[in-house]
Amino acid sequence: MGITGMISMITMVFSLLVLILSSSTVGFDYFQFTQQYQPAVCNFNPTPCKDPTDKLFTVHGLWPSNNVGGDPESCKIRNHRTRAKALEPQLEIIWPNVLDRTNHTAFWRRQWIKHGTCGYPTIQNENDYFETVVKMYITEKQNVSKILSNAKIEPDGIKRTLADLEIAIRSGTDNKKPKFKCQKKRRVTELVEVTLCSDKNRAHFIDCPNPFQPGSPYLCPTNNILY
Ligand SMILES: *[C@@H]1O[C@H](CO)[C@@H](O)[C@H](O)[C@H]1NC(C)=O
Ligand SMILES: *[C@@H]1O[C@H](CO)[C@@H](O)[C@H](O)[C@H]1NC(C)=O
Repeated sequence: MGITGMISMITMVFSLLVLILSSSTVGFDYFQFTQQYQPAVCNFNPTPCKDPTDKLFTVHGLWPSNNVGGDPESCKIRNHRTRAKALEPQLEIIWPNVLDRTNHTAFWRRQWIKHGTCGYPTIQNENDYFETVVKMYITEKQNVSKILSNAKIEPDGIKRTLADLEIAIRSGTDNKKPKFKCQKKRRVTELVEVTLCSDKNRAHFIDCPNPFQPGSPYLCPTNNILY
């Protein structure tokens, strides 16, 4: 093999390496930070919740997501640094397993395995996943109950318009579009989840790209939304 052959060979191997490395790190487009309203979650769960709920939006999960196609799930664990015990008192408050308060750990574990693992490299490891959520909810004040309350929308069980809810959330997220999830039972529609979206580096909020579509059982109507 001549020197030119050698160079082109090396170039080829190098390009291949770059391709492999980049394709294995570019796994998602943005984050969904989803919070669930505890009483609504229990109301719509097939089996009733055993424990009383708080009138609070608490964390469902932080989900690396794609603009088109499905969202990534259950990715490879690249860096084993497990959740620090010291985070648990805060997690129990902001991220309780509302369906079974005797087993928060099972809920956290499912979320980390299914979603958190796909957040690499923004999310470095399991501990980072949980620390990030604590930071978002508490330090960065992405507490949906608080954002609504700041806009004078309290959980009084009143019927709301979607526009009022959206304006309230936008006022706490640099005027970016949230994603709402509603569910309906016996002619009453309740607000179940609110999702705030951010770019893949979690540097700023973005408009949530994938709202529920007409025909979805989770689409919120324009009015009469109980919260
Ligand atoms: C928590 O839930 C997990 C998964 O459902 C189960 O394997 C585990 O035994 C449960 N732990 C307790 C303390 O109930
Ligand atoms: C979230 O906001 C609600 C409503 O203001 C408040 O009651 C709750 O304590 C807040 N949670 C945390 C962890 O700050």
